[in-house]
Amino acid sequence: MKIDIVSIFPEYFDVLNVSLLGKARQSGLIDMNVHNLRDHAHDRHRTVDDTPYGGGAGMVMKPEPWGEALDSILGADAVASDDSPLVIFPSPAGEVFDQKMARELSLEPALVFGCGRYEGIDQRVFDHTATQARVRLVSLGDYVLNGGEVAVLAMIEAIGRLIPGMVGNPESLVEESHEDGLLEYPSYTKPATWREREVPPVLLSGNHGAVDKWRHEQQVERTRRVRPDLLPPDLTN
Ligand code: ADE
Repeated sequence: MKIDIVSIFPEYFDVLNVSLLGKARQSGLIDMNVHNLRDHAHDRHRTVDDTPYGGGAGMVMKPEPWGEALDSILGADAVASDDSPLVIFPSPAGEVFDQKMARELSLEPALVFGCGRYEGIDQRVFDHTATQARVRLVSLGDYVLNGGEVAVLAMIEAIGRLIPGMVGNPESLVEESHEDGLLEYPSYTKPATWREREVPPVLLSGNHGAVDKWRHEQQVERTRRVRPDLLPPDLTN
């Protein structure tokens, strides 16, 4: 997968050199490039923001540096089609990111992330980019971050681990929270007794059927308690 990121803080993405994603980059599974938006601002102060038309608090990111940066990635003459790269702008005004979206995005050959700061990016950048590529605004959740960088880090981690060939044991992906619509069951390892706390006996029984049943019950109970909004209709009550 090819990933391009545009940001005024490229250093945020240095952490993508460690752990699984770092290995995926070394092996060539992920080809990632981080672009500094300020390289496309040509005044003396390399200005990327200005006051909003119509008034109001805060600053808005100027369209010119964004246009030049995205042209350099997508091609100035690119025309949007079903095969275009997908450009994602993290925004609290976007569709909410979830495991289903992560799975969809893990199948994309090329993703471009445009990290806004301040009060956002001039709307014409989204409108123009939509003529060159596919565009989605994506929110990490119902809260406001200072900019898109941390949201992009989270999305890349969630997407990256689903890319075929990334995780050593693909089964470990199937049994985790959100993959089957429920939260995951509690896990235990050795020792069987720790600070007088016992591992649930069923897990030591060797009875796989009973273990599966117990785990499923735990998933349902936990989901009902913590995230009742996720419970499928047949498990409600
Ligand atoms: N930028 C600021 N807040 C955000 C959020 N909640 N999700 C994605 N990008 C953001």
